[in-house]
Amino acid sequence: MNNESQQYSPTMTADYSRISDTARAVNAEVMPRMTSYIKSISPQIAAMSADEVFLIADYGAADGVNSSELFEEVICLIHEINPSLAIKLVYIDLADPANFLAFWDTSALAKLEHVEAQYIQRSFYEPFPEIKGKLQIGFSSTALHWMNAKTVEADFFRHPICIQPNQLPDHERRGFAEKWKDDFRTFLQECSLSLVKGGALFLANLANLGESRWPASPGYNNLRDICQELYVERKLSKAELEAIFIPDYFAAPHEMSVLLDEDDLGSCFAVNAVDPLTVPCAYFSKAQDKLEDTEVRSKLAATLASVVRAWSESSMQIGLYPDNKELIEVIYRRLQDKFYEKPEGLPYQYCLIEMVKKI
Ligand SMILES: C[S@@+](CC[C@H](N)C(=O)[O-])C[C@H]1O[C@@H](n2cnc3c(N)ncnc32)[C@H](O)[C@@H]1O
Repeated sequence: MNNESQQYSPTMTADYSRISDTARAVNAEVMPRMTSYIKSISPQIAAMSADEVFLIADYGAADGVNSSELFEEVICLIHEINPSLAIKLVYIDLADPANFLAFWDTSALAKLEHVEAQYIQRSFYEPFPEIKGKLQIGFSSTALHWMNAKTVEADFFRHPICIQPNQLPDHERRGFAEKWKDDFRTFLQECSLSLVKGGALFLANLANLGESRWPASPGYNNLRDICQELYVERKLSKAELEAIFIPDYFAAPHEMSVLLDEDDLGSCFAVNAVDPLTVPCAYFSKAQDKLEDTEVRSKLAATLASVVRAWSESSMQIGLYPDNKELIEVIYRRLQDKFYEKPEGLPYQYCLIEMVKKI
């Protein structure tokens, strides 16, 4: 549908997993939930035979680093119950496999016995015939807020002032909310085909908890303000200003609940949790008492700008004209300056969803 040059592929910069301590912290919340689930299915795990495989998928895995400690613990638990059970980790992401392969090469997971991995470079909104009816645990963290850019024209993601739907007033936001809902429904329907009966989904979805409590909002708002400034300075054209947009949407927990209650999904899944949660900004928390120290303040500003760049750059680039791509360096330099002038944390609000396939 989209013109190829305008096609969003919201992949992360290569340093993402080195500067995503805030995202990684949510694993500690997911682990006890997965532990309870594994305990609840321990008779089935114990009864699995040598020719069966316990399959775990990570949807929107990036390079695989951030879920690795969680997966190590889960594998350990499963092998305590059935030591020789084959476990397959399926990593799904739009990103080129190179970063995953580099991670896997030296990963502690790769050294575990009876564990293998597969990387599938595909949108998590597409079908996955490879795992149809075989998936035991589906996991996704900090990823399902990215909308499916393939099912709309490029100009769907366009606004004269704002760069992200959560910045918009309700009436303008509605179209994006509907789009996100359609996409999340598609994702869950595909998962229902992949899962075995009794298989579970653990989704740490970034979420809107009201007012400014949506993930990294100071990062998005600073980027919006920088684009406005560059437009006033004539460094950015009107068309570029309109086209710069980040195609993600942070739904409120009740928007997620409403969808999960829909007839089709409700009859397929038992929903065990839809829990809001805020993870404090890992970097701001460490520096906040030392901000009068210019070195600490500069380092924090640089880190926060890199964190925002990691997930926004690929989208921001789409809106810039081919002969104006170098402006990206100015944008993130100014972002760093803004974080220096006004240091602000980038907490991540989540909605933790746990659901089990009933039929
Ligand atoms: C913020 S990162 C999260 C990575 C990791 N799960 C974590 O918790 O840190 C979001 C990931 O989702 C991927 N992504 C975005 N849209 C996608 C889609 N439609 N299909 C597959 N992956 C997608 C991006 O490439 C990126 O690696």
